[in-house]
Amino acid sequence: MLSLRQQQCLHGMGIAQWRKRTSIAASEAETIPSSPTDSAAAELPVDQSPTTVPVEAVTTAIEPIDPVDTEIQATSPPVLDHWDGIINSINACSACELAQNCTQKVPGIGDQKAELMIIGEGPGHDEDIRGEPFVGRSGQLLDRMLAAIGIKREQVYITNIVKCRPPNNRDPKQEEAKQCQAFLRAQIEQIEPRVILSVGRVSAQHLLETSQPVGKLIKDMHQLPGSDIPLKVTYHPAYLLRNPSAKAIAWQDLKLLHKLLQ
Ligand code: URA
Repeated sequence: MLSLRQQQCLHGMGIAQWRKRTSIAASEAETIPSSPTDSAAAELPVDQSPTTVPVEAVTTAIEPIDPVDTEIQATSPPVLDHWDGIINSINACSACELAQNCTQKVPGIGDQKAELMIIGEGPGHDEDIRGEPFVGRSGQLLDRMLAAIGIKREQVYITNIVKCRPPNNRDPKQEEAKQCQAFLRAQIEQIEPRVILSVGRVSAQHLLETSQPVGKLIKDMHQLPGSDIPLKVTYHPAYLLRNPSAKAIAWQDLKLLHKLLQ
């Protein structure tokens, strides 16, 4: 936590401060369960250290974009009927302001014929640097959650609602998610997953086209609209890092997922 004086100094230097992802915690907080009831849930790793990122990291993450490249990219029509086309189209996209500010696109990673597809919200700082979804602290927890039901990261396909990092870890805007929707739909069509795991409020609300709170969505099984693919909602790992007691519910979700995949 920066002191008031440090904050004033940074402000004076024109450096934006990194903020915690309070939106997820705030909107999901209404559903915090009392305490873990299952020993396996209790074993899911607990990590309560702050999730802020050093200011230096923020200031080095943004690189200028080449205006000539942008012009060429903007004119290329997306080709979404095969994998290379999808990835190239994502990498070439400049349809919204997120593309202007990210270090690189984060299309997704994993088995392109995976039975389980995991869809998060959008890349964070670490993902933006690495070009791979869920590689920061949230990603490490996600990996351990999967391992708890015997699934390796390489066996699933992991992606996000938006493929570029929203600045200051803000939620993706409706129009940004809409711009990315065709890419996500094309990825789902290629993968044909048996089950989708939607992690967190932003992912669940976009996928299910609803504004219902995640605490409600988590209680039911869903289907991806316009398809017969079963969709399970669970808490975002970032939320679980802040609210370890919610791991009891996440563990129930994981067990259900395991059952669906058998
Ligand atoms: N949070 C997400 O929703 N996606 C990521 O890739 C990383 C963190």
